[in-house]
Amino acid sequence: MNLSSALHKKIFRIVSLSSQKIKQDSYVVGGYVRDFLIGKMKSEDLDILTIGEGIKLAKEVSKYIYPYPKIKIFKRFGTAMLKYDNQKIEFVGSRKESYHLSSRKPFIELGSLQDDQNRRDFTINALAISLNPDNYGELIDPFGGLSDLKKKILRTPLDSDITYSDDPLRMMRAIRFATQLQFTIEEYSFKSIQKNKNRINIVSIERIIEEFNKILLSKKPSIGLFLLYKSGLLSIILPELTLLKGIEEKNGCKHKDNFYHTLQVVDNVSKEKDGFLWLRWAALLHDIGKSSTKKFLPKIGWSFHSHEFVGSKMVPNIFQRLKLPKGDPMKYVKKMIQYSYKPIALIGNRTSDTAIRRLLFDLGKDLEDLIKLCLADITTNNIEKRKQYKKNIYLLMERVKKLEERDRIQNWKSPISGNDIMKAFRINPCKKIGVIKNFIKDSILEGKISNEFHSAYLLMLKKGEELGLKKK
Ligand code: CTP
Repeated sequence: MNLSSALHKKIFRIVSLSSQKIKQDSYVVGGYVRDFLIGKMKSEDLDILTIGEGIKLAKEVSKYIYPYPKIKIFKRFGTAMLKYDNQKIEFVGSRKESYHLSSRKPFIELGSLQDDQNRRDFTINALAISLNPDNYGELIDPFGGLSDLKKKILRTPLDSDITYSDDPLRMMRAIRFATQLQFTIEEYSFKSIQKNKNRINIVSIERIIEEFNKILLSKKPSIGLFLLYKSGLLSIILPELTLLKGIEEKNGCKHKDNFYHTLQVVDNVSKEKDGFLWLRWAALLHDIGKSSTKKFLPKIGWSFHSHEFVGSKMVPNIFQRLKLPKGDPMKYVKKMIQYSYKPIALIGNRTSDTAIRRLLFDLGKDLEDLIKLCLADITTNNIEKRKQYKKNIYLLMERVKKLEERDRIQNWKSPISGNDIMKAFRINPCKKIGVIKNFIKDSILEGKISNEFHSAYLLMLKKGEELGLKKK
């Protein structure tokens, strides 16, 4: 078997030599082998399994590398990591594990290659390539992983109930791989996820979210989001989303299924390669306010009045529960949801320039993402309507662009600073400075004065006088 790039070939030779020196057989295992076989070169982690001590092998390998690399040792797990030419190499001794029902933390003892392959999550991840002189480069595939790779199937090497119950994070991993690789989870295995779903509660939320984010960052996140829903995991992790599922009908009037609509919106914003994670989160949560605001109004039909406002208010709790970052990402997602209908409300000739300037001011550099979200939110199957909705947004954007060119609001900085005000009136910091600054800002947004120093200065003098201040 051709072991890929020149760097990797070199690494494998060094590992092979080192292994022979310390008389331990070694193998390339895990995601590297999988990705190599599907022709996707992955450079992050290179996992080396050795039948013996991983730390000992790492130390031996380091002797062949110049300059001498730092070895990170994880004594508790018996593993070690070093870098060669920026390639991370992890060394692990083969293990046999058994688990307690109440915990994910295994008891570990030394084992054979077969023991190690048995305890891996999926057949496609249980492949090994020998680095030993008698069968160097040979693929060791006891569970038909290569055939599953070709058939695009995710299957567990052992009984799925054992594999998932041993380490319930694997249920998330199954769905994550199914999304990233666009593979199918074998039927029995999927049923086992449905059966074992509640065991996800023993996994830390950080690890669950790491997998969830990988699903969201995939090319077509809806694959994973739907599987999460179908397995029952979504109602444990993010019940706010499953509450959107379903269509109600009254007096012959139906509303759309907001869960499927959300999946479509997430896919739509994910069309950009290497997209921004938080825009995807915003798309995912953009309609969460709809379940509690839903009402049937006999003369109007279904209404979800102020769901953007209600939804945005739900964001901090969700972020806290899922241990997502509380700073800028949370504020961004909250803002995107709060403003998600604003551009639509501004469509039409009757919208004032002031309203558009306010949108530019409130959103700043995030306006571009808000427009992406609005366009992604157009999921109607009616081609004519779709065209019209998109056209409306493009027309609004033209107006936005023209106003921005003229008034430069998007990265707005007041032409008059607090210092200018203090100097002009010879006053110390006080509330009046804020009042004057706000007045200037509103006058610019309302188009009463232009966005430049001279007009703002004159207005400052006028407003100052009104507040009992005198120019000194
Ligand atoms: N593994 C496992 N069960 C887990 C995590 C990992 O059996 N809960 C095994 C799999 O054999 C996996 C290998 O450990 O291939 C390495 O794990 P990791 O680096 O987390 O995943 P990769 O498969 O390499 O994939 P990716 O890098 O895309 O996460």
